[in-house]
Amino acid sequence: MPPKIHTGVDLTLIAGVLILFIITGVNPKSTIEPCSNNDSCNALLGYTLYTDLKVSELAALFQIDPINLLAANSIDISYPDVESHILPSQLFLKIPITCSCVDGIRKSVATHYKTRPSDTLSNIADAVYGGLVSADQIKEANSIADPSVLDVGQNLVVPLPCTCFNGTDNFLPAIYMSYVVKPVDTLAGIAARYKTTTTDLMGVNALGNAAIEDGDILAIPLSACSSNFPRYASDYALSVPNGGYAITADHCVECSCTSGSRLYCQPASLSVSCSSMQCKTSNLMLGNVTVQQSSAGCNVTSCGYGGFVNGTIITTLSSSLQPRCPGPQQVPPLTAPPTVVSPDMLFAPSPSPSQLSGVPVGGLPGSVVPSTSSSIAFPPSANGPIGSASNACGMVNPLSSFSLTVVLVLFLKVMLPFL
Ligand SMILES: *[C@@H]1O[C@H](CO)[C@@H](O)[C@H](O)[C@H]1NC(C)=O
Ligand SMILES: *[C@@H]1O[C@H](CO)[C@@H](O)[C@H](O)[C@H]1NC(C)=O
Ligand SMILES: *[C@@H]1O[C@H](CO)[C@@H](O)[C@H](O)[C@H]1NC(C)=O
Ligand SMILES: *[C@@H]1O[C@H](CO)[C@@H](O)[C@H](O)[C@H]1NC(C)=O
Ligand SMILES: *[C@@H]1O[C@H](CO)[C@@H](O)[C@H](O)[C@H]1NC(C)=O
Repeated sequence: MPPKIHTGVDLTLIAGVLILFIITGVNPKSTIEPCSNNDSCNALLGYTLYTDLKVSELAALFQIDPINLLAANSIDISYPDVESHILPSQLFLKIPITCSCVDGIRKSVATHYKTRPSDTLSNIADAVYGGLVSADQIKEANSIADPSVLDVGQNLVVPLPCTCFNGTDNFLPAIYMSYVVKPVDTLAGIAARYKTTTTDLMGVNALGNAAIEDGDILAIPLSACSSNFPRYASDYALSVPNGGYAITADHCVECSCTSGSRLYCQPASLSVSCSSMQCKTSNLMLGNVTVQQSSAGCNVTSCGYGGFVNGTIITTLSSSLQPRCPGPQQVPPLTAPPTVVSPDMLFAPSPSPSQLSGVPVGGLPGSVVPSTSSSIAFPPSANGPIGSASNACGMVNPLSSFSLTVVLVLFLKVMLPFL
């Protein structure tokens, strides 16, 4: 067999079998997904505001589109002067990012931070970016020799954690949110809040048991609606988590996930000039659905969105005969931008609501400096051999200082049977 082909096979195996690494630092753990291609995906960061910030300031902190930020959190984008609205400290928001493959692992490196007087790496990591990154990771990403000497105005890359896991969880569409565990969190509480199970969270994050610690970064699968736009569409692979919106097509189209887990797109409520959103050969506009009851059933005709291609909004007219007429589209409710943090906005999932009251929130994990030590874990939906998966589970938690050498040895041990 030519060596080239052999290499190809190995790469597939590596991608398929060795899906998860868990990096264990001094304490905090983080779920990392190895990757081998340039495909990127939509992902989210769970972020708690460290101070009052305008919508535009928060968006600038992550260098994302403020409109996308609002949409991801189902905040009404047509609210007057919404980008200047001040969001309150301690508010928990989902930050939409693009998750790429960099140096063989999934991460986002699109975010930069300009240092200000009196900034330290741990203050940037723990406070400004809420523990989503560690001081050491910023130090490494920017080749900073001496972290005690930060120039003011230095432009630092802030590597942020994300995972794609093929856009699925248990074979259903999902978007992954990187979540920094808070002192009050339990795995059961997080699972309940995000409508998943502790088993699923343990599988996704390759946890040997349900113990999680302050500052750990978990990948939380959120059920989503995925698109099937053509590859040449600029919004190819768009996926929207349940309960949220995504804005696409130059702010012209907003898509959400209906209660029936279908992607539903309609004209966005921004006054921007957009290309036609009328379906050809019909008088239906994007998002319109008509129903016609007949003896054979219900004829449902809808004008759907097919992606943004060369500045053109692609519409698709489709008709289908269904046994019963569907009710009106159920799209997530939009809210006004929050001005105060009410208890239910605080992100402090806990099994019983009563435990929520009186609980301190927003506690920052201490300035922990994770090492580069790692251990290997296995994929959620067990593409790999079951036996090795259970072995791997056992070694994730108890070992906090696991050297890279050991990882390589284990890696080879795991891979050898397949080579
Ligand atoms: C990924 O993208 C980079 C730059 O964009 C390119 O140099 C590289 O060849 C691409 N790799 C693959 C596997 O497509
Ligand atoms: C990735 O997801 C697609 C469907 O979205 C599925 O057909 C495919 O088998 C998945 N690949 C892997 C490696 O799980
Ligand atoms: C069709 O969609 C447009 C744009 O969203 C909306 O203004 C209009 O009311 C819809 N018409 C019907 C019949 O649903
Ligand atoms: C359903 O309605 C559409 C438009 O109203 C029509 O073009 C189509 O032929 C109808 N299909 C069936 C099966 O009745
Ligand atoms: C987009 O436009 C460019 C040039 O204007 C053209 O070459 C390309 O084929 C177009 N792509 C699609 C998918 O229509």
